Amino acid sequence: MYDFDKVIDRRGTCSVKYDLLKEIFGKKDILPMWVADMDFKSPPCIINAVRKVCDHGVFGYSFKPDSSTEAFMNWVSERYNWKVKKEWVSSSPGVVAAIPLSIRCFTNHGDKILIQTPVYPPFHSAVKDCKRELICSDLKEENGVYSVDWEDFEKKLRGGVKMFILCNSHNPIGRVWSREELTKMGELCLKYGVVIFSDEIHADLALFGNKHTVMASISEDISSVTVTAMAPSKTFNIAGMMNSVIVISSADMFRCYSKELSILHLDLGNLFSHITMDAAYRMGAEWLKELKTYLEKNIDFTFDYISKNIPSVKMVKPEGSFLLWLDFRESGFSHEEVKKRLVEICDLGLNDGISFGSSGRGFFRMNVGAPLSVVQEGLSRLKRAF
Ligand SMILES: Cc1ncc(COP(=O)(O)O)c(C=O)c1O
Repeated sequence: MYDFDKVIDRRGTCSVKYDLLKEIFGKKDILPMWVADMDFKSPPCIINAVRKVCDHGVFGYSFKPDSSTEAFMNWVSERYNWKVKKEWVSSSPGVVAAIPLSIRCFTNHGDKILIQTPVYPPFHSAVKDCKRELICSDLKEENGVYSVDWEDFEKKLRGGVKMFILCNSHNPIGRVWSREELTKMGELCLKYGVVIFSDEIHADLALFGNKHTVMASISEDISSVTVTAMAPSKTFNIAGMMNSVIVISSADMFRCYSKELSILHLDLGNLFSHITMDAAYRMGAEWLKELKTYLEKNIDFTFDYISKNIPSVKMVKPEGSFLLWLDFRESGFSHEEVKKRLVEICDLGLNDGISFGSSGRGFFRMNVGAPLSVVQEGLSRLKRAF
């Protein structure tokens, strides 16, 4: 019913992905398959909601309506069996902004904060920029499949970590963490008195029958030490609206977070963020269902293509989202050579694996949240040099 095949020209629209190519890759003539937004139009329900506000034409100060919070609460109740109370729900102009906000609220200068590498670059920078000590626990990789190194994870928690920033599901390695894995992580955090910041922005995009579990839904105890960040931005391709939902069930922690938000005058939020979130969570389910089928098709196609035509590059299908973690370690080229060849021979813009941590050496991240014809073009370009 929805047209995900349509190629839409995004150049000249203040698009980070399309309009900053020269700055990022050194030249403009690049097919961008990097930053994590999609090349699809958002669902009609969102476009109509924006249109209605534009037709009205007055864009004064706004606040988040209760209907938007209620739509979120229904969404997570139905999908994740997570029963959220209204008084737990706060906001942030994007999930990334909520990371330093939470670090400031719940830790002190010099405190240790744990991340599981390789992981989304702002996890690293938020900790360092807030002058906390970054502690990395490398995920264990075996034939492209990643799991937690439990011994290392616990050793690091025991060493005085104050906060754990979880990526659930995990960007860039594509794991949708199982309930068992999350329970073990959560219980270890409880044991060592560690606050959890659970970034669940990719939750709605669990694919291939994998089921997303909300960390805070596992138990009241785990919930009481957890800040959960969710958003409609990845799900409905509205990252430019800068909207996210922050859920904190501990009353003390909630007060602290809300205070910080209001000091920065970020609590009112943005009109377009409010109305798009409301429309997305109330009316976006059908569109999302079709999107996920389309993404699975793109991933299947890419997997088959790479296996048959570019066997020196390895790929494991992600359990969720539209980001592929490609392994070039057996390509015969060093990381630096791969990086150069991608730009100079393939005219392709992928994310450098090292930006996710040193264990990302030899890897590059490819975004297939695009019409299949664009993905096909990207793959034929990749074949030029590998
Ligand atoms: C794990 C993760 N968290 C957060 C973000 C971005 O969040 P926001 O745009 O809401 O700041 C991304 C975007 O790629 C992401 O992958």
